[in-house]
Amino acid sequence: MKIFQHVSDIGNLKQALQEAFDIKENRYKYQELGKNKTAMLIFFNNSLRTRLSTQKAALNLGMNVIVLDVNQGAWKLETERGVIMESDKSEHLLEAIPVMGCYCDIIGVRSFARFESRKDDYEEKILQQFIQYSGHPVFFMESATVHPLQAFADLITIEEYKDKTLIEPNPLFGGNPIIRTPNKRPKVVLSWAPHPRALPQAVPNSFAEWMNAADVDFVITHPEGYELDPLFVGDAKVEYDQMRAFEGADFIYAKNWSCPGVTRPEDYGKVLGDYHDYADWTVSDRQMAMTNHAFFMHCLPVRRNMIVTDDVIEAPTSIVIPEAANREISATVVLKRMLEAL
Ligand code: CP
Repeated sequence: MKIFQHVSDIGNLKQALQEAFDIKENRYKYQELGKNKTAMLIFFNNSLRTRLSTQKAALNLGMNVIVLDVNQGAWKLETERGVIMESDKSEHLLEAIPVMGCYCDIIGVRSFARFESRKDDYEEKILQQFIQYSGHPVFFMESATVHPLQAFADLITIEEYKDKTLIEPNPLFGGNPIIRTPNKRPKVVLSWAPHPRALPQAVPNSFAEWMNAADVDFVITHPEGYELDPLFVGDAKVEYDQMRAFEGADFIYAKNWSCPGVTRPEDYGKVLGDYHDYADWTVSDRQMAMTNHAFFMHCLPVRRNMIVTDDVIEAPTSIVIPEAANREISATVVLKRMLEAL
């Protein structure tokens, strides 16, 4: 694998899942594969899970790891070609990328949507330059439009939990065990939830893309105006009534996203209206009561009592922590495949 951006890059999903579960059984099995190879992880934006889980994955494979926080300690980077560089940006990305490439074998990049231009964001202007100029395989650690390491971990988690019938209480928060009858083909609902700031569409885009490729009954629910790009929605059912969308669901995946600008390009990257007016979209026991004792998922970090209530995220059916743990597994599979293709 030379690029990890879309679900198609991972190939056969069943094989990828099998590989993930094999690695989970013995995550150090391929320690020799990464010997004397270096992964460089470049962050233009903050991270907790991606930073830690991807480093751990590289270490699992015996790799060396270099982490660069571009905004802390590196020269400020100019990203536009043709600019007269008289601002505080001392280095151009067109030199910085090949220089970074001198010191590593595989590059991971996090660079969020800038919301300055929908076209630039959706053309992945920054990541495409890393692909073009680094000379190495590039994996997306959340770009302007996708977060495939997260979506792969989400799929692994759904696969692990979809047939569970006895849900033990969460050891951190207590509660009673839950008995559930799984649907033969799990119903997975991606639900928009309110947030005070404009967030990118990368997580919902990738989640939708991966769910469309998986063997699940996939539904997306959001208020009008938040339609995701059709490229990612694919054949998913879109239901504007959140309560109806939740009926009989096995998995609820909550996430905020800003306006994708599909119907009104001028609204791209905006929070539409006053988010307080959408308080009834916060995932609470009211909506969860409509589901088939659904598991609650979120990529984290999550704002409690904004996206989801304390009660729902602390319930025995909340699987946000195992979901985060699987980030190590998805990253290990991806790095392993990139090492194998060097
Ligand atoms: N879910 C996720 O990517 O978390 P971080 O932003 O903390 O890396």
